[in-house]
Amino acid sequence: MQNIHVPVENAYDVLVERGILQKCGEVIKKIISAETCVIITDDNVDKLYANTVENSLRKNGFRTVKFVFPHGEASKNAETLQKIWSFLCLNEVTRSDCLIALGGGVVGDITGFAAATFLRGLPYVQIPTSLLAQVDSSVGGKTAIDLPEGKNLVGAFKQPAVVLCDPDTLTTLPETFLIDGMGEVIKYGMIADADLFHKLCSYDLYTVQEHFDEIIPACISIKRDVVAEDEFDTGRRMILNFGHTLGHAIEAYYHYETYTHGCAVAAGMCLITKYCSSPENYQVLKNCVERYHLPSDVPAPVHELAVLCGNDKKRAGAKLRYILCSPIGTAEIRTVSLSEFYTLFELKG
Ligand SMILES: NC(=O)c1ccc[n+]([C@@H]2O[C@H](COP(=O)([O-])OP(=O)(O)OC[C@H]3O[C@@H](n4cnc5c(N)ncnc54)[C@H](O)[C@@H]3O)[C@@H](O)[C@H]2O)c1
Ligand SMILES: [Zn+2]
Repeated sequence: MQNIHVPVENAYDVLVERGILQKCGEVIKKIISAETCVIITDDNVDKLYANTVENSLRKNGFRTVKFVFPHGEASKNAETLQKIWSFLCLNEVTRSDCLIALGGGVVGDITGFAAATFLRGLPYVQIPTSLLAQVDSSVGGKTAIDLPEGKNLVGAFKQPAVVLCDPDTLTTLPETFLIDGMGEVIKYGMIADADLFHKLCSYDLYTVQEHFDEIIPACISIKRDVVAEDEFDTGRRMILNFGHTLGHAIEAYYHYETYTHGCAVAAGMCLITKYCSSPENYQVLKNCVERYHLPSDVPAPVHELAVLCGNDKKRAGAKLRYILCSPIGTAEIRTVSLSEFYTLFELKG
């Protein structure tokens, strides 16, 4: 078992081990003295893993109840949250009970927000089952739901009591989500670990899975370091957004229909590197991204994407920040005016 300690105000551990799902009850019992564990999951993950988790919790003396909602980003909203709150009331859940987020980032984000808000807060455990959730969303304490006006607009910082990460669950993850998660894995190499990045350049979508036992903890450790330095996202944590400024613009340009988040981030990382770094760095990153069937570019004109990046900043008259990884394995936060940002793309466009 790998134990990655996250030294934030309410410190906790991320435990990575194949098969940890089967003994989750034993592990949780040592950390939380709850009577009832409320498993929150989506319909896909429910069919695959809820029984295993439920059995282990019951074997270790917990009462369990389960709330299942339809999979997908469309469920990460106030309506589902309201249903979760009502379910918790109906089952007489108290602050000494605990929520279990079993699933991908959608389940983790909404369960975390329910745990932050119900009865002004109760403990929750993250059991991430998608690659993205294991390397990214389950660690760091950002929780949220979407509004019709935009993604992740309402949320809270709420660190989990423990994160149980079982790489075995990734064997059932559909390939599109594996590809998506690889976008973030490559990001970690770019911002903080040149060695990891170069290893990724020698694997592909299939061989990389043989190295998950090493790669997943490496990514979590990077996220831990960044989160520990800036728990509430007021400075250095921004480096986790490498590729995301243009990535978010790509998602929005295509109305969230054409590019999934990881794909948009991959293209965003390549574009910012192409326009702001050396041709060598760009070529190496482009090759790596393409090994994992991720896009290195999109048909949308880059200057239109740049304008989208600036849209909400324009009103505030604010500067725009973006991340540059040069050399690979390091991250620099650059702050520029909007016109400087636009110029970057017009010059070489
Ligand atoms: N809180 C954070 O810091 C943070 C960071 C990054 C992303 N996010 C959020 O994470 C979400 C995306 O996460 P995601 O990509 O995991 O999406 P997701 O939760 O929708 O999971 C992707 C799909 O995979 C299925 N799935 C999950 N695990 C599976 C498994 N082991 N086997 C088979 N199917 C499985 C799910 O049912 C779903 O259909 C977004 O809402 C995003 O905003 C949050
Ligand atoms: Zn991301």
